Amino acid sequence: NEIYLDGLGGVVPRFPMSYDDLEPLAQAAMAPSVRSYVAGGAGDERTQRANVSAFEHWGLVPRMLVGATRRDLSVDLFGLRLPSPLFMAPVGVIGLCAQDGHGDLAVARAAARTGVPMVASTLTVDPLEQVAGEFGDTPGFFQLYTPTDRELAESLVHRAERAGFKGIVVTLDTWITGWRPRDLSVSNFPQLRGNCLANYTSDPVFRARLGKNPQDDPQAVVALWAGIFGNPLTWDDLPWLRSLTDLPLILKGVCHPEDVRRARDAGVDGVYCSNHGGRQANGGLPALDALPGVVEAADGLPVLFDSGVRTGADIVKAVALGATAVGVGRPYAYGLAHGGEPGLVHVLRALLAETDLIMAVDGYPTLADLTPEALRRVL
Ligand code: FNR
Repeated sequence: NEIYLDGLGGVVPRFPMSYDDLEPLAQAAMAPSVRSYVAGGAGDERTQRANVSAFEHWGLVPRMLVGATRRDLSVDLFGLRLPSPLFMAPVGVIGLCAQDGHGDLAVARAAARTGVPMVASTLTVDPLEQVAGEFGDTPGFFQLYTPTDRELAESLVHRAERAGFKGIVVTLDTWITGWRPRDLSVSNFPQLRGNCLANYTSDPVFRARLGKNPQDDPQAVVALWAGIFGNPLTWDDLPWLRSLTDLPLILKGVCHPEDVRRARDAGVDGVYCSNHGGRQANGGLPALDALPGVVEAADGLPVLFDSGVRTGADIVKAVALGATAVGVGRPYAYGLAHGGEPGLVHVLRALLAETDLIMAVDGYPTLADLTPEALRRVL
C-alpha cells in the first residue's frame, strides 16, 4: 500500500521496483572484481540461467471468490514463527557489496527491520558475534563451511550457539571451489584478499594454530585458512556434525532424494535444496526441478530452497512445490550494492509485497493453500 500510495502522491521511488531493473544498476556500482564474484557462476553459467528460467515452466492457476482480503504468510520453522517464508541465503564476503565494507552488519540490520532472517556465512567481514548483535528480534542462522580442523569447526559452531544463532546450516557443495571463469579472469579475486576471515582471526582455536597476532602477518592468516578451508565431508562425518550442537542442523546443497533420505536417517532437522545459485557446478539440473523430489523424500522434514528466485511469483511457486522457506542470494546482494541498507530493505519489502499481492489476487490466502494443485507445468 505504501508503495502504491507514494506513487499516487507523485513520489518517485528511490529504488528499482524489479530485479531486472536493479541488476544492471547494482553491477555498475560494483568494482569489477566484486561484480565478477557476485554475478558470476560456474562454467558458461547455463545452470545459473536455468535456475531462473525454471520458474517460467510453472504457472499459477488463480482461484476466484475466495475473499482473500487477509493473507497469512507466516511459517513455522524449527519451532520459530517467521512472518514469511523468505530468508536471506548465506552470501560470503558480502561486506564487499557495502560502501563501508561492513555488509554483514547491514544485512543483519535489514533482517531486524523486516523480519526476514539472515543466514550468516562463515566468510564474513565482521565476526559472527557482531553480526548476531544486530539481529534484533529476528532469528538468525549460521552457515558453516566446515574446516578440516575439527576443533576449529567445533569452536565456530559453539560460538554461533553462544551468540544466539538459531540454527546451523552446513554447506556441503563447496568443499572445493567450482570452475568460475569470471573469477578466474580477474586478478584480485576478493575472497583471496583475506578480508573475509574475521570469523577465523577472532577465533581462539585459529589464533592458537596461527601462533602469532593476525594483524602482524596477514599472509600467514590467508595461508593457514587456505590450508584448512573445505572439508570434503562424507556421510561418516554426519554423527560428528550432529553431535556438535542441539541447534537445528540443516544440510545445504542437497538435491538428490536418496541424499535427503540419508540426511533424515542421520538425524538432521532440515534439508536445503540449492545448487549454490549455479556457482559451483555447471550442467546441473535447475534447483527448482530438484525441489519436488527433495520434498517427497523429506517426508515432512522442513525443506529450505534457493537458486534462481527473483520475484514474489517465484517465492509463491517454490512454496507451492513444497518449500518450507525460500531464500534469495544475488537479489539482496544487489540491493545492498545499489542502495546500501535502505536498498536492501527495499528489495526484501518489494519481494514480500509482491508475494502477498499474488496470494491475494490468485486467491491463496495462506501458505497451506499453496500446494502443487495451484500450479500447472507450462512447457
Ligand atoms: C553465495 N552462496 C553461498 N552459499 C553458502 O552456503 N555460503 C557462502 O558463503 C556463499 N557465498 C555466496 C556468495 C555469493 C556472491 C553468492 C551470489 C552466493 C550461495 C547462496 O547461499 C545461494 O545458494 C545462492 O545465491 C542462491 O542463488 P541466487 O538467489 O543467487 O540465484
